[in-house]
Amino acid sequence: MAFGRGKVILLGEHGVVFGHPALATGIERGVTASAERAEADRLEIEPWGVALGPDAEDDEPLARAFAAVLSLYPGPRSPLRVRARVELPGGAGLGCSAALGVAVMGALDEALGVTRDADALGRESLAWERVFHGNPSGVDNAVSAAGGVVLFRRGEPLTAVSARRPLPLVVADSGEPSSTKTMVSGVARRREREPERVDGVFEAIAALVHNGRLAVEAGALGDLGQLMDVNHALLSTLLLSTTRLEDLVGVARDAGALGAKLTGAGGGGCMVALAADPDGAARVREALERAGAHAFVAEAR
Ligand code: PMV
Repeated sequence: MAFGRGKVILLGEHGVVFGHPALATGIERGVTASAERAEADRLEIEPWGVALGPDAEDDEPLARAFAAVLSLYPGPRSPLRVRARVELPGGAGLGCSAALGVAVMGALDEALGVTRDADALGRESLAWERVFHGNPSGVDNAVSAAGGVVLFRRGEPLTAVSARRPLPLVVADSGEPSSTKTMVSGVARRREREPERVDGVFEAIAALVHNGRLAVEAGALGDLGQLMDVNHALLSTLLLSTTRLEDLVGVARDAGALGAKLTGAGGGGCMVALAADPDGAARVREALERAGAHAFVAEAR
């Protein structure tokens, strides 16, 4: 059985598309997949009720993504039926499509006896991700394959970050669907119009990422929380937050979170809060649920 983790970006989304670093962690929720011999190549995804074959010309992006990954296995082979189970909300900033790509490729590797390390799986499964996102930085796939708390910079191998203390995270879904592709291209357009301002924001975020890494290594959760708050404010200046995300971030802080921010592409999707300990995380989760959001405590994995 292959597994692609979901991920939470603790600090650094969007800047990471333009070569700045990001601090992210895998979470225990993700996508599992397995593959077995069949009469024809087929991909089934539960609970979405998806069943399709690979077709590079299809209007359905999943068919194109499946075709893109299968094309990475040249030479004669038996047809395979891949069955995937998704435990993450899609289009919500938790790296669902990357986790699916990593799990599908991992399942194909297992069935075909191909071995590749986590770095290679993260890199090569980008063939899948590119179908959904025009210009993915690669952070989602890399974290999905490798897991743990990591520092990521585009085009470079991951740096594992050793967390002195566990990170009690709470994730809440705003319920507003968001497209990473649209949000990333919106930021790129803004950067073309106002290069100095937008690059200044990214440089400030990069400084947060470096300090965030030190905070994780030192177990200084209060510092990490403050950095998350500042990161959220900077992302808001790029118009990536929404009224609903602002509400949820406020609810989490009022419930005692050390910090809270949108996570992933923004424009909807999820927010993440950091609590001081598991009891604090439970209180933050309850407050977010009372505010009408679907929320869960996430274990960094
Ligand atoms: O919304 P998600 O889970 O795909 O996260 C996107 C993170 C971005 O930095 C906005 C895009 C990227 O490719 O890194």
